[in-house]
Amino acid sequence: MAILKILERGRVELERQAEPVLSFDDSLREIAQDLWETMEAYGGVGLAAPQVGINLQLVVFGVVSSERYPDADPVPETVLINPQIEPIGGEMEEGWEGCLSIPGLRGVVPRHRRIRYSGLYLDGNRLEREVDGFHARVVQHECDHLIGLLYPDRMENPAELIAEEEMVDNT
Ligand code: NI
Repeated sequence: MAILKILERGRVELERQAEPVLSFDDSLREIAQDLWETMEAYGGVGLAAPQVGINLQLVVFGVVSSERYPDADPVPETVLINPQIEPIGGEMEEGWEGCLSIPGLRGVVPRHRRIRYSGLYLDGNRLEREVDGFHARVVQHECDHLIGLLYPDRMENPAELIAEEEMVDNT
């Protein structure tokens, strides 16, 4: 059990394709536990293994209520392994995102409004969900970390990357 150091933008570990998880053992459970504790310690709603320097296709996310995202709908607390995402319909939606690897900033990012995602639970069982809105956004953001992308890579307008403190009156 540990709170891990979160790597910040510029680190090569954040720009890699992550490896699939092959063994569902105690060390995997420990990694997932550490990711949870780290995410909660930093007040995030999601965290991907590469953000703590572990090059595996594993993300955790979930929110009941968040100070960072006060208007967000609840998202079930989930450990998602070897995920796949399939957009449903063609509709895109813009929304503000932040990232624990890019402290102090927020940006407007277009995402698929509705997706189907699948993957494995920590016990190796299969998970599949159809979601939309904030839930879909969080999953797309976290899974981008597994292919070496950060949210500014998805932004269309660089002027919409601003200091977090300037968000207070805007949200
Ligand atoms: Ni992130």
